Amino acid sequence: MAILRHHRRRLSQRLVGVLLGLGATVESASWASSRAGRSVGRERNTTTDVLRDAMECERQVADRCNGINVFEEPSGACPPWDAAVDLMPPPAAALFAGVTATDLGCISRSLGFGRLLWCLARGPAVRTALELFTGTGGGSTLLLAHALAAGAGGRPQHLLSVERDVRNVAHAIEVLQVSGVKLGGFVHLGGATGLEPSELPELVARPGPWLLHGDLLQYKGLLELLCQAVGGLDLVMLDPPIGVDLERVWPGLDRACKPRFVAVHNANLRGHAGWLRHQLLADPGGEWQEAASGSHPSPWEAVDREIGFLGDDGELTAGRRTWSLLARRDPL
Ligand SMILES: *[C@@H]1O[C@H](CO)[C@@H](O)[C@H](O)[C@H]1NC(C)=O
Repeated sequence: MAILRHHRRRLSQRLVGVLLGLGATVESASWASSRAGRSVGRERNTTTDVLRDAMECERQVADRCNGINVFEEPSGACPPWDAAVDLMPPPAAALFAGVTATDLGCISRSLGFGRLLWCLARGPAVRTALELFTGTGGGSTLLLAHALAAGAGGRPQHLLSVERDVRNVAHAIEVLQVSGVKLGGFVHLGGATGLEPSELPELVARPGPWLLHGDLLQYKGLLELLCQAVGGLDLVMLDPPIGVDLERVWPGLDRACKPRFVAVHNANLRGHAGWLRHQLLADPGGEWQEAASGSHPSPWEAVDREIGFLGDDGELTAGRRTWSLLARRDPL
């Protein structure tokens, strides 16, 4: 049952953002002095600037939500949400009968991680994002789609989100609709490459969230095609269900899409995507840095223990699920 699958795969948190290169926590960063150093009008803001803006935004949203960092948003914790006003991320949504967004493990705005994703995607540095995978769509899919729709720049923005369970895709489409986020489109992957020749130009021409239904691992070269079409990726959000082998996907994705940011949920649980965090950070002088990380309490502690923890800090992380935001170092 899809719901159970999703139940098993999601997380918790405390925002312990470490600003790139500054080694400072969100709380202790000295905004005033570092902001003054920003040079205006350059082609591309430095990653440090981008993260500082995203973390400042996260702090403001967190303030409006009483600083909560739990999956389930207590009623009244955040101000009522109005689709017509884009100053706040939408609450996590579940439309299946008798199931809450928390039951589905949705990454919500009640988590620091959810707020940071929304804030990052809302800023000018992120125009294209890929999500692996959609799940039921009422969590990070909704946050990213909403943020990109409201995003700065007036340039076409794309969210590509892949999901192999068609019921989840249908649910995600409905969630976006009831949340007032215009769908770019959706496609059933098929054929040799996943996409028909006519589908690619349509996707490029119609920005917004695109839901791609099918098994990504079946289509060698699909991400390469997509990235060529949308001009690479700014952000990749990884929250794979346990056992989906993204190790085969990453090298091609990295080469063809050159993502600037990679967000990993459930980074401390075996069988998810935490291996990528370890891999990217293995060389301390390498291309990637951890820009922010954190954790939140896990409502599924027994399940997490059963899956097992990645690395040797299992006891420390038991009861919590961690996340990581990785950033490629700026070119010199
Ligand atoms: C750089 O950051 C500033 C402040 O967030 C923003 O207004 C501007 O659009 C950004 N420029 C680019 C090229 O992203």
